[in-house]
Amino acid sequence: MKKKGFTIWFTGLSGSGKTSVSQRVAEMLDERGVQSEILDGDVIRENLSKGLGFSKEDRDTNIKRIAFVCKLLTRQGAACIAAAISPYRETREYARNEIKNFVEVYVNSPIDVCIERDVKGLYKKAIAGEIQNFTGISDPYEPPVNPEAVCYTDRETVNESAAKVVQVLEELGYLEPA
Ligand code: ADX
Repeated sequence: MKKKGFTIWFTGLSGSGKTSVSQRVAEMLDERGVQSEILDGDVIRENLSKGLGFSKEDRDTNIKRIAFVCKLLTRQGAACIAAAISPYRETREYARNEIKNFVEVYVNSPIDVCIERDVKGLYKKAIAGEIQNFTGISDPYEPPVNPEAVCYTDRETVNESAAKVVQVLEELGYLEPA
């Protein structure tokens, strides 16, 4: 029997911790013998979405491309992990409907904490007006209304957040309990 594929869809502000939590989840899946593929916004924008900017139209194109790949992989029984800001609720709903076995994870970190961390130095530039349409500063972020999981990365360790996601996968029947 073919394995039941699924896509874990991380959404959250830049610097909220999507990449860190997604990588830890992939490790935890690996420890359970489940191989996964991560589609990270920053990486996708260097190849599949190269040349796209940050207008609503370009972001939607980016997300729909990621959703398309996840759909193909998921229906072949793969475990996919998407980690892009994906700021628009409607576009995430599109991804959910396309992919079907969809586990939405809201990586919830207050904007102040993201600004404080400013791992890539982009918030500083966005606040100074050197970067336009920056999510959370000068561009919208629409938080999920009913996500399957929420990670509070300002008060959970990466490990705790990732373990939470893995538990939800078990509860939803995508992963055998350890
Ligand atoms: S999304 O909106 O299309 O989902 P995605 O996750 O692929 O975004 O890319 C976001 C990354 O691009 C950020 O983490 C940041 O490093 C970089 N970036 C550059 N400009 C912007 C901007 N205007 N808004 C948000 N992120 C930006």
